[in-house]
Amino acid sequence: MRKKILDTPLFPELTAPTSAPRRNRKKLGIPKGLDLDQYERAEDGRLREIVGSWSTIKHRVLFEYVGRTRGIRKNWISKGPAGATYIDLFSGPGEVRIENTKEVLPGSPLVVWNNRGFGPFTQVYVADLHPDLVLDCHARLQEAGAPVDRIEGEADTTVDEVIARIDEKSFHFAFLDPFNLGSLSFDVIRKLARLRSIDILVHVSAQDLNRNLRRYIEKEGSSLDRFAPGWRGKVDTSLADPAVRTAIFRYWTSLIKTLKGMLVAEAMQLVSGDEGQPLYWLAFVSRHALGHKFWKAIQPPPDPEPGLLFTRLPS
Ligand SMILES: C[S@@+](CC[C@H](N)C(=O)[O-])C[C@H]1O[C@@H](n2cnc3c(N)ncnc32)[C@H](O)[C@@H]1O
Repeated sequence: MRKKILDTPLFPELTAPTSAPRRNRKKLGIPKGLDLDQYERAEDGRLREIVGSWSTIKHRVLFEYVGRTRGIRKNWISKGPAGATYIDLFSGPGEVRIENTKEVLPGSPLVVWNNRGFGPFTQVYVADLHPDLVLDCHARLQEAGAPVDRIEGEADTTVDEVIARIDEKSFHFAFLDPFNLGSLSFDVIRKLARLRSIDILVHVSAQDLNRNLRRYIEKEGSSLDRFAPGWRGKVDTSLADPAVRTAIFRYWTSLIKTLKGMLVAEAMQLVSGDEGQPLYWLAFVSRHALGHKFWKAIQPPPDPEPGLLFTRLPS
């Protein structure tokens, strides 16, 4: 029988089903729980995260802070055995590649360790939800000579383990770098803030707040309730979205103020994506005037100059 002309596709090659070739997790060597688009195996067999170019801003800010606070750590260490610690509860694997490039750079714990200079860290703690990530991060830090301890799990629980292990009298610097608001439970900050001398740099996801605001408002017990507990009684959700977001953010900073004088610095770095879309804020939290002074001095953070900033790794 002759086929009806309408049944015959004009451009068969375009109408044929197109499915992306399936990538094999096993072949790629990426463990379960990690996104195949977001991780790869480095030449040394360890995991590496694939990141947007804006990650260099986050690392630049870390680099600047650690460089400028060398003197504080040096003084602290010379005072006695208390020491200076670095705590990274969302460590990742310790190495990143900028997507669509061959540029391979250190991840946050290595950025910090590599820039310790004359103000070393006497102890480094790395933790991550994914055991393979923190394992490889630990190995990289050990290779770089860091006195490092690792813990697997959610920041909600690893924070307790870190606090149990550290010398409370040390000078601490913590970096909290989650993917979204839900992973940044306020309790984590509350617990860290009990330490007398601590500066904290917090990644607050503007993207999450932008995309999911109304969904989070609707659902009691959502990410927003973990991020800023008690916000429901304080924020008028009948306002327009931008005003609601601002109010939630203000409320979060006011919560931090209740932690024995901890203060969120007014100068807050907003990191945007390639198309100008807001991605996250980097909020600096400390109760020490000196910490705020150093933070202020690095605002606005200089443009990334990778050659100066990072120890380049072979790509
Ligand atoms: C943005 S990445 C960290 C990148 C790293 N700080 C850097 O700059 O190289 C976020 C990390 O948090 C981990 N993660 C996600 N949820 C977590 C949670 N609730 N507690 C601890 N880690 C978590 C992920 O496995 C991921 O490695």
